[in-house]
Amino acid sequence: MILAIETSCDETCAAVVDGTAVLANVVASQALLHRRFGGVVPEVASRRHLELVGPVVQAALADAGVTLAEVTAVAVTVGPGLIGALLVGVSAAKAYAYGAGKPLIAVDHLHGHVASLFLGPDAIEPPFLCLLASGGHTLLLDVSDHRTFHVLGRSLDDAAGEAFDKGARLLGLGYPGGVAIEALARNGRATRATFTIPMAGRDGLDLSFSGVKTALATRLAARPPASDDDRADVAAGYQEAIVESLVSRLERALKMTGHQRVGVVGGVAANGRLRARLAALAERSGITVRVAPLAYCGDNAAMIGSAARFLEPQPFPALLAIDAYPRATLKVKSL
Ligand code: KG4
Ligand code: ZN
Repeated sequence: MILAIETSCDETCAAVVDGTAVLANVVASQALLHRRFGGVVPEVASRRHLELVGPVVQAALADAGVTLAEVTAVAVTVGPGLIGALLVGVSAAKAYAYGAGKPLIAVDHLHGHVASLFLGPDAIEPPFLCLLASGGHTLLLDVSDHRTFHVLGRSLDDAAGEAFDKGARLLGLGYPGGVAIEALARNGRATRATFTIPMAGRDGLDLSFSGVKTALATRLAARPPASDDDRADVAAGYQEAIVESLVSRLERALKMTGHQRVGVVGGVAANGRLRARLAALAERSGITVRVAPLAYCGDNAAMIGSAARFLEPQPFPALLAIDAYPRATLKVKSL
């Protein structure tokens, strides 16, 4: 049984995970705090993590009905992410581990997103192809076992979630943007406001989202939406271009790798239009497509506890040497 802590961005999270079962999963979102700035302010996030991490850990233990003495290890996200935010989680995790005489497990945030697919009754087993689409990353991954994955393709510029967030800002929808664009798009028709699909017709598996964001900005400047219906159409067209790009790249990766199983994870995996397109892909191709359960798409600590199962626990005093890192350390595989 693992107590996991995640503080890489603007969600303060703690979970208790026992094998593939999630006994507690507490997420204290700071979104409202950052909304007036139009995005996450790193120093504000760190200070809020500091206030929230204790209560969030206590809430997770209480929800799970266990004491710290009963867990076998503490796990924590060590990177990539906002370095100040990560350091709050890492310091807290070290304190809990040392104080309770437990080992500490260092978990990579991206490994955590992949491991969200190992939770619950519908867990998917490696090897599989994984699309990870979040606010910080958009990656096509070859997952060869529970702890090993290689990058097959990646966004050359903005991440898909970033495209949603920046698009939402251009549409005057505020932060965070993905949910807001999806809600507005539900009232619109994508066919009335089409955008060029990013990277369509290009070789390889890389993605790109800064062009479609610029196309949105140009369109809004040249033709400001005349009505709410108009704005909804633009949101729907913009969402469609991002989703179409993700799905077509995924299909291409399937053909190139021959994988018969696909997992889709990260904050953007919560998008209803993407989920519908993925369900259609599964139906049409017979390929197993597993999208992370909604509760584990956005940042959470259950996925960190899930990844931790496959990693080496560090006892005291080795755990004191565990450090945070801001940038992703990714292994690439060329097909
Ligand atoms: O995985 P996540 O919580 O944090 C990172 O590791 O980045 O992903 C957050 C991203 C944000 O960019 C947010 O706008 C996007 O996921 N997102 C969505 C939806 N819900 C969250 N994008 C599209 N549709 C959604 N429903
Ligand atoms: Zn994330």
